[in-house]
Parts: sequence; C-alpha cells; structure tokens
Amino acid sequence: MTVLDHKDIKDAAAILRAGGLVAMPTETVYGLAADATNDQAVAKIFEAKGRPQFNPLIVHVAGPAMAKRYVAVPPLAEKLMAEFWPGPLTLVLPRKEDGKISLLVSAGLDTIGVRAPKHDLAQALIQSVDRALAAPSANRSGTISPTRADHVKDSLGDRVDMILDGGPSPVGVESTIVKIDGETVTLLRPGGIARADIERVIGCPLSSASGTIEAPGMMTSHYAPDANMRLDAREQKDGEAFLGFGAVKGDGPAALNLSESSDLAEAAANLFAYLREADRLAKTNGLKTIAVANVPMEGLGEAINDRLKRAAAPKA
Ligand code: TXA
Ligand code: MG
Repeated sequence: MTVLDHKDIKDAAAILRAGGLVAMPTETVYGLAADATNDQAVAKIFEAKGRPQFNPLIVHVAGPAMAKRYVAVPPLAEKLMAEFWPGPLTLVLPRKEDGKISLLVSAGLDTIGVRAPKHDLAQALIQSVDRALAAPSANRSGTISPTRADHVKDSLGDRVDMILDGGPSPVGVESTIVKIDGETVTLLRPGGIARADIERVIGCPLSSASGTIEAPGMMTSHYAPDANMRLDAREQKDGEAFLGFGAVKGDGPAALNLSESSDLAEAAANLFAYLREADRLAKTNGLKTIAVANVPMEGLGEAINDRLKRAAAPKA
C-alpha cells in the first residue's frame, strides 16, 4: 500500500477539501494546514492559532511544477528549488494574477512564500488534495513550535479537525525564508537550511532584510516558554533549569543537553521539544529561569540562536 492510499491521508484530504483544518507533520515542525485557495479555511487557521494579526502564511506545494500554478518562478528561484526542494527552504515570489491563492494567505502582499516539504505524509497529503496548503506552525500564537503530534494536541486540542502523526520532526526548526527579487536574494528568516549552503548555490552573500519588516511575525516574543530565559550561560546557577550544549552542561533534575557531541543538527532537532521539557521541569522543580549554554553562530546555529532570542524576548 502506498502512502497515498492510506486511509488517514484520504480522510485528511477530504477534511481539507471541505475547508477544515489538519495538523500535518513536516520535516521542520508540524504545520496547521488549510486549503490555501479557500478564504474561509485560511481564516480558521488564524482563529485556531489565536493570532493577533494576519501575518502572511507559508504555502506548501508538492514541488516546482505545482508552485508554478501560483507564483512566477524566475531562473534563480528555479535553481534554488532544484537544489533544496523538497526541503526546509521557503521562497518568497510574486503571486500570479490568476493564481487563486487566498489574499488572506499573503496578508494582502503581492508575493507568496512557497515551499515543498520533505516528509512522506505531507507530500502524500498535498498530492492527494492537489491544492496548495497554507500552514503555519501548529501551535497557539506565541508558544513553542510543535515537533511532535503530542505537542499539537496539547496546544490546539479540539481546534483542529485531525492530527496526522508522522513522528518527531527531524529538522526541528522552521524553514529558511528568502525573498527573490531579480538577482537579489534576501534572508528573511534563518532556518533549516544554513545560510552558507544557499550562498554556495547563488554564488554571492545573501542580503539582509532592511529596517522595514518584510516578514511580519518575525519580531518580538515568540516560541516563548513560561519560565524566564537566560542565554549564553557558562554555567547553571541556583534556581535554574539548564539547556546545555556540548561540554557546557548543568546537572540536577532540570538539566538537559541539546547535543552532547556539539552537533548543531541534533541541537536543532531537539530545540523545541527540550524547551518544552525544560519549561515543564522548571515548573515541577519550582525554578523560575531556564539558562541556555552558548550555541555557536555557524550553520544551523544561526536559526537556533534566532529562536532562542525570541524565546527570551520580553513578553508583550
Ligand atoms: O518550516 C516552516 O516554514 C513551517 C512548516 C509548517 O512548514 N511553517 C511556517 O509557516 O513557519 P509560517 O506561516 O509560520 O511562516 C510565516 C513566516 C512569517 O514570518 C511570514 O511573515 C513569512 O513566513 N512570510 C510568508 N509569506 C511571506 C511573504 N509573502 N513575504 C514575506 N514574508 C512572508
Ligand atoms: Mg510559528
């Protein structure tokens, strides 16, 4: 039996076609998916997440051919798709006039962020629905992104019509987002594909987003545990839960290590689950703060540090 014939996929596809919400596993985090061509279905995403504003959502497609139904794909984008799709790279590209994607998906912008997820269940689902699926992370707004089906259930519960369990998300941080404008490629959000890998393909440094926020929902507190966070910790202090990295580790009942062997891919995959677990351990042990060891800024470290900074930002 192929995955496409799987009963859960058929049920999930029927829910999506009827305008419902399905939590789907992807290689980065679990997504809260709706038919991206259906305004009412997309509105339900914002409602379920409790999102204060309408941020533009990422649209998930099976691959380049399906992307071309909805957005214009210049040669440089084609090249990046060939290299990194399916995988954790989102490309912000001009919306096609007749592209049918709900305007709510792009919050009124004339561009759309598209990506092809590298996960059998997500691929089977998209192909079965045969429409683009809008999907932000499947958690309540401002809370830690879900990398397991249980996380989705804890955060969204009955607000979602179905949760497809595809096991732990192997990458663990959201996709890298780049905007393509002629020959200029701008990094809007660091993520599961390292900056250096993209630069190798395009042959020049990525531009950085200028002052005006190109990707709303990119600032302020996000991914936030209930405990306070202390970053770049050299050691665990009294009253702290600890998230170690490599040789910098804590001890006691509330100490975890993102990667004993200082492996950044392993640390990324563990990040959100360990933030949740550290938050839980802090609570049960009466600790107010989660201290986190320094994580180097190379490779996936850029995305990990970005998420840690947001988790540590003062809550509005
Ligand atoms: O890994 C991921 O990307 C996950 C999984 C589920 O695929 N999805 C995800 O989606 O993180 P979402 O909708 O939470 O990502 C939204 C981010 C926001 O920062 C948003 O501003 C940016 O993508 N974005 C989406 N469309 C955009 C556009 N047209 N222009 C600029 N930024 C855009
Ligand atoms: Mg999110």
